[in-house]
Amino acid sequence: MKTTTSIQATKPLIYKSFLLSLFLSLIFIIFLFTDQLLSLHNQHIKSTINIVPQTSSLQSHANLRMRQGFNTYDSYLKHQLNKTLNPKLRNLWVTRDWERKIKVFSKFFNKLKNQNLLANNSKSLCIGARVGQEVAALKLVGVSHSVGIDLVPFPPLVVQGDFHDQPFKNSTFDFEFSNVFDHALYPSKFVGEIERTLKPGGICVLHVAVSKRGDKYSANDLFNVDGLVGLFKVCDVVHVIKVDGFGLDTEIVLRKRKS
Ligand SMILES: C[S@@+](CC[C@H](N)C(=O)[O-])C[C@H]1O[C@@H](n2cnc3c(N)ncnc32)[C@H](O)[C@@H]1O
Repeated sequence: MKTTTSIQATKPLIYKSFLLSLFLSLIFIIFLFTDQLLSLHNQHIKSTINIVPQTSSLQSHANLRMRQGFNTYDSYLKHQLNKTLNPKLRNLWVTRDWERKIKVFSKFFNKLKNQNLLANNSKSLCIGARVGQEVAALKLVGVSHSVGIDLVPFPPLVVQGDFHDQPFKNSTFDFEFSNVFDHALYPSKFVGEIERTLKPGGICVLHVAVSKRGDKYSANDLFNVDGLVGLFKVCDVVHVIKVDGFGLDTEIVLRKRKS
């Protein structure tokens, strides 16, 4: 009688131990599974980061942030050309947009002439000039010795040239204008080439967006003019003013030192 009672008493004990070990095993399996999932996720993030080339000129700063996603220089060029070579857009730029843009650029250049920062005899370059409305505007206000560069030529106003490696000799120009700094994949090369090809005493005028973000063709985002001005080594700031130039809100004017 006593034996039967003790067997009956141990039964719930066996069930309890079984349930407890089942519960503990379940916790162990869940822990193991979660750990594996997390390490798989981290591996994915690492491989995504490694795709982006880590060169010194791609380093971002608080005032100037590089956009990620260009694996090679070719893929950057392809992306830029995708818009510049679009036949429908090219047709609009030389018809609907032509006069309107020349009018706005002419106003900017006339103002610079009044400030003695540009003269009729200034040998001038427009960087990233596409179909050359800014070059046409310079000629219209009397600056006849003007030319543009772009990845795609548009003769006779624009010759082919990469702004990271301008096709001109040192100290060629008195005046350089650009509204495409945001397209520079290597901002310090963009600036270095301007400083190289400007004559001593020459003027550089840049129109940039500081409070707005560029479109999907921009390669960098500028958050403060210091992010751009800080790249110049042999030029001094003449003025920084607010403007309204085709979505670009700031004009930065610099002069190359004479010695
Ligand atoms: C926003 S558009 C500006 C066009 C023109 N400045 C205007 O206001 O009508 C940018 C231009 O920069 C050119 N571009 C982009 N990357 C370039 C590079 N590395 N060298 C020269 N031009 C470049 C593009 O081909 C495009 O024509």
